[in-house]
Amino acid sequence: MTDEHCPKMFPTTQLEEADGDGHNSSANATMGEIISRRFSRRNFLQGSLAVSAIAATVSPLALMTAEKARAAGGSAFSFTEVEAGVDANHHVAEGYDADVLLRWGDPLFADAPEFDPTNQTAEAQARQFGYNNDYVGFIPLDGAADHGLLVVNHEYTNPHLMFPGLVTLVDGKVEQGPLSKDQVDVEMAAHGGTIVEIRRVDGKWQVVRDGANNRRITVNTEMQITGPAAGHDRLKTAADATGTQVIGTLNNCAGGVTPWGTYIMAEENFHGYFMGELPADHPEAVNYERYGVPEGSYEWGRFYDRFDVSKEPNEPNRFGWVVEVDAMDPTSTPKKRTALGRTKHEGAESIVAKNGKVVFYLGDDERFDYVYKFVTDGTYNPDDRAANMDLLDAGTLYVAKFEEDGTMEWLPLVHGQGPLTEANGFASQADVLIETRRAGDVLGATKMDRPEDVEPNGVNGKVYVMLTNNTKRKADQVNAANPRAENAFGHIIEISEAEGDFAATSGTWEVLLKCGDPSVAEVGATFSTETTKNGWFGMPDNCAVDSAGRLWVSTDGNSNKATGRTDGLWAVDTEGDARATSKLFFRVPVGAEMCGPLFTPDDETAFVAVQHPADGGEDWDGHGRPSYYEDLSTRWPDFKDDMPVRPSVLAITKVGGGKIAV
Ligand code: FEO
Ligand code: CA
Ligand code: CA
Repeated sequence: MTDEHCPKMFPTTQLEEADGDGHNSSANATMGEIISRRFSRRNFLQGSLAVSAIAATVSPLALMTAEKARAAGGSAFSFTEVEAGVDANHHVAEGYDADVLLRWGDPLFADAPEFDPTNQTAEAQARQFGYNNDYVGFIPLDGAADHGLLVVNHEYTNPHLMFPGLVTLVDGKVEQGPLSKDQVDVEMAAHGGTIVEIRRVDGKWQVVRDGANNRRITVNTEMQITGPAAGHDRLKTAADATGTQVIGTLNNCAGGVTPWGTYIMAEENFHGYFMGELPADHPEAVNYERYGVPEGSYEWGRFYDRFDVSKEPNEPNRFGWVVEVDAMDPTSTPKKRTALGRTKHEGAESIVAKNGKVVFYLGDDERFDYVYKFVTDGTYNPDDRAANMDLLDAGTLYVAKFEEDGTMEWLPLVHGQGPLTEANGFASQADVLIETRRAGDVLGATKMDRPEDVEPNGVNGKVYVMLTNNTKRKADQVNAANPRAENAFGHIIEISEAEGDFAATSGTWEVLLKCGDPSVAEVGATFSTETTKNGWFGMPDNCAVDSAGRLWVSTDGNSNKATGRTDGLWAVDTEGDARATSKLFFRVPVGAEMCGPLFTPDDETAFVAVQHPADGGEDWDGHGRPSYYEDLSTRWPDFKDDMPVRPSVLAITKVGGGKIAV
């Protein structure tokens, strides 16, 4: 989503920053160099014109093969850049196909109904591909790179783009009416995840509708709460006296696939789904304040008491977790793994450390919140899948402290250690995990500029942290790891764990890239000089590392107004002289954000998720007014008058086959 207040209720658009300073009022120190020159729109426009003149061509190195270019100290990526810009369609680099694989509403089962936007029902939606695809993962079947399970998160819903007749114009301004219970039920069925078998036939990916593992997970799917917080009184509700059974998952943003082939769905902005009020002296009041609960963006609490905190005060404690799903068993009960903490989890990408323990990297996507990692107690057994299935129930959760001198520490969130004691309100490890953010506060973790994806790179041994933006950071709050005040465009940090050990508790770090237009001095962007006018970007969000160890970054928040371009997928060099060179490989239609991305193990396919297309377009002269169901800024990808815009997953392949960008 665009910012930490993800459920963007109409008429807000992705151009608008949510109000508020985040929910971290702890006094953790901020210090360091000050970059306080304010980015102004006037300067941006001047800069755009300037960069057009000075960098209109693609670097000659970009046209070499990757190997030759690398040998010449150039980019590891070989493709001709896409022209940055804004229009109604997607664009991929020349010589590549970007084929629509799954659209919102596509049937996922042999007996599922075809999509009918004028007759949407929860029953149909629960058998069809959900809304706002975000994380995309691939679990090979039989070890094949051309046959497997695609796992996709459906993060949230945009009612004004989904339902006819919901929006009216009043004095030229748009107003959204209340949702019916039927529409709320469709929303709940459009959330969650999809597991679907896919196969590549004659170079093209196909959905296998009768795949034995095909499954939809929704807000109504029964789940189990496991790990140290399971069964705690703070997780008990009227419907669940055990504190171990919860119905559904929501706001599943990014995620992961574990080394043992399970599907991870990270619960991000759960606060928006709760309405009602708690008394100020309620025992959960401080906890909920730290997470912004309740925000009341969704209307579900009008029909379902559990989403109203005045009626079911403990329900929000049952969201904000990392969910693990055995995608190979469609009858399996997904598990909320409390050992990994409760935050607004962006994702949970993992890697096996030298000692066999499995390390999960976790970003908490809110202004001034933290980067975490989790190290399992047990070790991964590549020969016995069953032995790995509960590895996520025991381990150590750490929060990152980035020092000014380029070193860092991973501080353990372990009850009884340091300040994590009853005196500070933590009576058990369950309390530490339920209030993970507050535990990070008292440990003195570093307040970051909205941590999104955190991705380990098994080839170069580094870890990449996407920090998407934080316009609320004041000049006196900058620190070395968050070096820009009013950070509108975000940055990327590269971590080197001590001795190359992902399980280490210390390491070093540096800023790989400060994002934004490099031709505008006030922005302070640090793309390499090889980066063209198309190659720079703002607001890094998701990322992927391909099997060659190359970094790909996707974005959320670029627009005509913000950067003169849509979001997209950029190839970012991390090695040698080409370090911090970026090139645009794919861009999304107007109003969309770029999610995924995911490379198949053979690097021949990149799956990308186009999320919330047509959510915006006022700032683009191809539309120039609010976008809603009856007056959409794009009807991508079908471009039919009777079909609304549809978030979709695309498969990008090289024409004629072969590895991407080689
Ligand atoms: Fe849902 Fe942090 O993006
Ligand atoms: Ca996002
Ligand atoms: Ca995201």
